[in-house]
Amino acid sequence: MASYLHRLLLSFFLFSLSFAASRPDALVVPVRKDPATLQYVARVGQRTPLALLNLVVDVGGRFLWVDCDTDYVSSTYRPSRCRSAQCSLAKATGCGDCFSPPGPGCNNNTCGLFPENPVTRTSTGGELAQDVLSLPSTDGSVPGPLATAPHFIFSCAPAFLLQGLADNADGMAGFGRTNIALPSQLAAAFSFHRVFATCLTSSHTDGVIFFGDGPYNLLPNVDASQSLIYTPLIVNPVCTAGTCGQGEKSDEYFIGVKSIKVGDKAVPLNKTLLSIDSNGVGGTKISTVAPYTVLETSIYKAVSAAFDAALGNVTRVPSAGLRFEFCYAASDIGSTRVGPAVPSIDLVLQSESVYWRMFGANSMVSVTDEVYCLGFVDGGPSPRTSIVIGGHQVEDNLLQFDLATSRLGFSSTLLFRRTTCANFNFTSSG
Ligand SMILES: *[C@@H]1O[C@H](CO)[C@@H](O)[C@H](O)[C@H]1NC(C)=O
Ligand SMILES: *[C@@H]1O[C@H](CO)[C@@H](O)[C@H](O)[C@H]1NC(C)=O
Ligand SMILES: *[C@@H]1O[C@H](CO)[C@@H](O)[C@H](O)[C@H]1NC(C)=O
Ligand SMILES: *[C@@H]1O[C@H](CO)[C@@H](O)[C@H](O)[C@H]1NC(C)=O
Repeated sequence: MASYLHRLLLSFFLFSLSFAASRPDALVVPVRKDPATLQYVARVGQRTPLALLNLVVDVGGRFLWVDCDTDYVSSTYRPSRCRSAQCSLAKATGCGDCFSPPGPGCNNNTCGLFPENPVTRTSTGGELAQDVLSLPSTDGSVPGPLATAPHFIFSCAPAFLLQGLADNADGMAGFGRTNIALPSQLAAAFSFHRVFATCLTSSHTDGVIFFGDGPYNLLPNVDASQSLIYTPLIVNPVCTAGTCGQGEKSDEYFIGVKSIKVGDKAVPLNKTLLSIDSNGVGGTKISTVAPYTVLETSIYKAVSAAFDAALGNVTRVPSAGLRFEFCYAASDIGSTRVGPAVPSIDLVLQSESVYWRMFGANSMVSVTDEVYCLGFVDGGPSPRTSIVIGGHQVEDNLLQFDLATSRLGFSSTLLFRRTTCANFNFTSSG
């Protein structure tokens, strides 16, 4: 099955190659959720001849890294020589030689970065390099001719860094705020806006990430870029990655949650936790690596208690052996277009009238046919970031990250608009 899809997509890529796009307005990447790890895996083409890579999406990640130890064959691989323009663009200051057999990932007189696996919290040194990167262009509705960035900068990593990632993963794709993360490099390569939008799905068909401005059309003819609500993206002044340079800021995406409401009632919270302090601790970020939203303990307790109270007489069921603590008999809960009929959870943003509302489809997890659980997890009493909005909570929501204006556009659930993130038409014409 997987290899069939792989061939299908590869043939799509090869087909598209013969119609290489000159100046695309936008690009599109298929993304599928890996059921075992709950990671979101994007498929992009790299190298010459073109190889199809599976890259775990890390929305706050700093760059693209791939395992160069395993079958890296490419006539267009170029290591980044010390003090080259690529090294400075990547802020890769280190410079060194390699004492293993030469090849991709091992060349002398090259600069390097620290590719990171946020799942296992491991990072290691890796050679900086360039190679061809290819993605389908799009008119916003269907994939078009393949667009090729001939000198895409990335980091090599040793094979062991893949541990903890989806089985088929070849590396990770970072979408953070750096110059060399995918959004900025692709925007620079194709002269479009530094904007990208994620639309993730839990279904076993593809969700989608768009680079560039909308339309972002989903079947049946819904432009998900319409009626977005906007909130400023906040820069955390202190680096949140595994390996940080002195004085570096965070490249992850933070938003300003001011309060949380459950069923329209404000939950009492320690507001200090919601802002980012001078050490970079606190605040709210978006993660595609956390499968479920993680809340600092006091926030977790307050939100769960408020939710449990607002649910009223629904039978709570034992959660022993389950990943979640607040679980309920599904038979007591009605169903709606936007998931189980439960009180809404609002993240209130820059003003009372701007909030990100989560309905049952995003707040509840169906753990068995009989049981729904509140899909939030306890992050302990002193996490670095108080609220980490995770994958389940952003599925079937369009999130548009605009790096130029530093704002996030969010759609809330697309289920109200009778579509889902699995509805981009990936069927190529021809
Ligand atoms: C790098 O240079 C050193 C010293 O000249 C040499 O021993 C080593 O084999 C070289 N490594 C590669 C990958 O060419
Ligand atoms: C609120 O959180 C801050 C930061 O963790 C902490 O220093 C303070 O003691 C907390 N306040 C209360 C009333 O718990
Ligand atoms: C719970 O059930 C009782 C008795 O059936 C009823 O009086 C009460 O209004 C219900 N509470 C809620 C919140 O639904
Ligand atoms: C998807 O796109 C293809 C190619 O452009 C088109 O032929 C097909 O009708 C579209 N599918 C739907 C359901 O609109």
